[in-house]
Amino acid sequence: MTTTVSTTHGTHNGQLPDYLDEVLAGLSAPEKTLPCKLFYDERGSDLFDRICELDEYYVTRVENALMAEHAAEMADAIGPGCLLIEYGAGSSTKIRALLDHLWEPAAFVPIDISGEHLVRSTDALKKSYPGVEINPVVADFTAPFKVPAPSIKPSRNVVYFPGSTIGNFTPEEASDLLRGMAERVGPGGGLLIGVDLVKDPAILHAAYNDREGVTAAFNLNLLVRLNREAGAGFNLSCFTHRASYNTEKARIEMRLYSERRQSAEIAGHRFDFEIGESILTEYSHKYTVESFGKIASAAGFRTRRVWMDDDELFSVQYLELD
Ligand code: AVI
Repeated sequence: MTTTVSTTHGTHNGQLPDYLDEVLAGLSAPEKTLPCKLFYDERGSDLFDRICELDEYYVTRVENALMAEHAAEMADAIGPGCLLIEYGAGSSTKIRALLDHLWEPAAFVPIDISGEHLVRSTDALKKSYPGVEINPVVADFTAPFKVPAPSIKPSRNVVYFPGSTIGNFTPEEASDLLRGMAERVGPGGGLLIGVDLVKDPAILHAAYNDREGVTAAFNLNLLVRLNREAGAGFNLSCFTHRASYNTEKARIEMRLYSERRQSAEIAGHRFDFEIGESILTEYSHKYTVESFGKIASAAGFRTRRVWMDDDELFSVQYLELD
């Protein structure tokens, strides 16, 4: 239940963050939710880097290994002279594996929402690949943005979307995003994408409820951030992280559970929590090659190559538009 109360201390420094409306709407919904994009402030990004190094979190380890082993075949599938556009350019390990093998790319365009992060990683890449034209773009890739034309005409446009970030979107949102990518690359264009696979739920449970509690800290950091940036009054010690696997929907659902009856106030709005009531903070969808092929084909993409580890934990897929 949402209650509006008057308050003099509802916001931090009197500055309302631009995501506030989304937060208020999410917490007012029948099942309380918070947008997972808010995970990635500075501390959240550091915590995510630590998640990527955990034994239990196979995602990064397996994808890096697939890139190290098969980047030459991926470059062959993409072909010479491409314009490569990376959505959400994060760790440069994976793109380096690809740039090591791509044949004379027309240009590389990393897209990232964080300008600071992008400048740092682009500088390092420019040093390592002086022959590659690199044109970074600061943008939220879920909103419209422009890609600068490279100085050489590319043979084809290819989007690179690693990390299985596609899994954090609902199937409907993922379809919209894939349709946007199809428009972006145009006829004959390609998509090289990391897609996490359906597997034994015990492996997923361990990956999203790690023993060290790094994922728990990552999840709780959402509330830390709202307390700091939106003057929210979440009592951090009264919420617990738990991720569970929804077999029917083939997705991990990450939530923060209220340990007791309590309320929290944000910008003059009060939100009441019952004992055991939760805030849904993230979906992480898992696909089979077939189920992903279906949503990709609805956007016009045809699966050309799939690389998987022996245990079939994770896939990197190359898809093309006709
Ligand atoms: C970024 N994304 C692909 C991660 C995932 O596995 O869904 C985010 C994450 N959440 C908890 N651990 C990692």
